[in-house]
Amino acid sequence: MDQMEVAETTDTLHVRSHVQYNAPDHITPTNIHRSPLEQFHIWFNDARIAGVREPDAMSLSTATASGIPSSRMVLFKQLDKRGFVFYTNYTSRKSKELEENPNAALLFFWREMSRQVRIVGRVEKVSKEETEAYFKSRPVGSQLGAWASKQSSIIGENDLAARLKKFHDRFGVTEDAHERDVPAPEFWGGWRVIPNEMEFWLGKPSRLHDRIRYLRVNGSVSDEEPQWNIDRLSP
Ligand SMILES: Cc1cc2nc3c(=O)[nH]c(=O)nc-3n(C[C@H](O)[C@H](O)[C@H](O)COP(=O)(O)O)c2cc1C
Repeated sequence: MDQMEVAETTDTLHVRSHVQYNAPDHITPTNIHRSPLEQFHIWFNDARIAGVREPDAMSLSTATASGIPSSRMVLFKQLDKRGFVFYTNYTSRKSKELEENPNAALLFFWREMSRQVRIVGRVEKVSKEETEAYFKSRPVGSQLGAWASKQSSIIGENDLAARLKKFHDRFGVTEDAHERDVPAPEFWGGWRVIPNEMEFWLGKPSRLHDRIRYLRVNGSVSDEEPQWNIDRLSP
């Protein structure tokens, strides 16, 4: 494994070396799929099959109405013809920001493959039916966790445990239960990011990486078969 070189003083830390990327393949506007969603599907499967750790972990960036950004990791749950779905609490900071500014950026980094995928798009909430179907598939502990957490609010030391107990009792869930009919909370559900722009990045030596960017033609978000302009970008 590469040993990172750092230089430290009492009040600074300098990183003096970095990993060299050397992906064996190349992407070009002609060998890449015409649809970035199909291309994502291919790369996601590559990452999964290659044993990349948590290939479903992605960074989600949101911004307030006045443009102050914030990022955090979430789990990618579904790709469909329209976009990328993740689930969260609808009263969380991210959801409040998405309500006031319905634009988001997603980022996947598959280190083991020297690959990165950037996605920028508009968001919409997934249907109640989709949320309920997904919620049903979650382990009961996660279902109760969704009820108990007032995500992103300030809490006291014992508040979470107390709320967890409250919902255990409300839904009659015993400690060893693996399944239980816990409904999805009204304040919890999915967001779908519908891309207007996607970029596929392949790490190469000396920072001479391959970058291919897709831009949606005409920007229509309702179109299920969008056309894309495909360009190579300088690294
Ligand atoms: C790998 C990873 C996956 C995560 N997945 C989710 C997720 O799918 N949904 C979610 O609400 N939070 C998820 N979290 C927690 C979020 O990063 C974040 O702490 C939380 O959603 C609160 O963010 P907010 O206050 O900006 O709304 C995940 C964290 C990590 C490190």
